[in-house]
Amino acid sequence: MTIIIKTENLTKVYNGKFTAVNKLNIEIEEGEIYGLLGPNGAGKTTTINMLVTRIAPTSGSAIVAGFDIVKNSLKVRKVIGVVPQDLTTDEDLSGYENLIMVSKFYDVPKQDAIERINKLLKLVDLQDSASKLVKQYSGGMRKRLELIAGLVHDPKILFLDEPTLGLDVTTRSLMWKYVRDIQEKLDVTIILTSHYLEEVDALSNRISIIDHGKVLVTGTSEELKAKLKGDIIQMTFKTQEDAEMMKKYPNLVSSKDLGPNSVRLTVQDSDLEMPEVISYISNNKLSVTKMTVQKPSLDDVFLEYTGKEIRGEEAGDFKQTMFNMRRLRK
Ligand SMILES: Nc1ncnc2c1ncn2[C@@H]1O[C@H](COP(=O)(O)OP(=O)(O)OP(=O)(O)O)[C@@H](O)[C@H]1O
Ligand SMILES: [Mg+2]
Repeated sequence: MTIIIKTENLTKVYNGKFTAVNKLNIEIEEGEIYGLLGPNGAGKTTTINMLVTRIAPTSGSAIVAGFDIVKNSLKVRKVIGVVPQDLTTDEDLSGYENLIMVSKFYDVPKQDAIERINKLLKLVDLQDSASKLVKQYSGGMRKRLELIAGLVHDPKILFLDEPTLGLDVTTRSLMWKYVRDIQEKLDVTIILTSHYLEEVDALSNRISIIDHGKVLVTGTSEELKAKLKGDIIQMTFKTQEDAEMMKKYPNLVSSKDLGPNSVRLTVQDSDLEMPEVISYISNNKLSVTKMTVQKPSLDDVFLEYTGKEIRGEEAGDFKQTMFNMRRLRK
């Protein structure tokens, strides 16, 4: 296992007063897809911008592919590819022309560039649209072009800042496939930021949840989920007595009333516990009318560590609307 990126107390203070990234420590292994997950304003883009040497840290340091981001920024730039949060391709050029432009910027020899570009276009299924103007591309095609524009100079590490922001759900999951293909076929390490839980869950082997510029927790999504205290079983019974009896089940982490004849039980591991729960119900002749079992989701993990729900734009707007509506009704 080789560590390809390591930060040490990496810090960014804007305008001498606002700390956007606060003594951040992360280690990224070569070949992995590493997700930085956090709500708007958590400090994801600031972190990426320091690692790609777009902005200088206020204090602390980071090594990227063996080079110090401050002392060796030019060397860092040669071995990394960046797909920023904002679109960068030129709308008035074709996809192909955009990629050629990037290759010139990085001094890639022409023949190498052509081969590389054709390979990349194929990888994201853009070969048939390569000569079209970018302004004629759909949102998803544009994002795919942005993705490979970061790869023209054959970098060892690819930084993806919010790779699917603004895409609809279907286009987003298609994009995930391309990101995975790229990681496998081009042998790059990928570090991505996202405020979509499903995205980091689907793509990353390891995740750091960050908020207020600090890492709250790091692990695989399984490890993060396992840190939550158990699985949840919700049950409704015909009578309140049955619900009360269920709360006496021996192997509970906790239990809670959930309205009429209903309980919410937390057990260590529902996979192991369910057979016992079923026999308990049967032995005590409890009459269950409804039962659901829920494993913790990454949402729950996020909530646990940040104390708030993740704010995706659509989700956020929707929640805000619901909140306002509820307030109006009161
Ligand atoms: N150039 C700047 N000057 C001052 N403050 C800034 C600057 N850039 C970012 N910030 C602030 O720093 C904090 C972190 O911003 P950053 O863009 O890194 O967050 P983010 O996690 O990428 O958020 P998002 O999910 O919205 O992309 C925010 O509060 C932001 O307003
Ligand atoms: Mg950002």
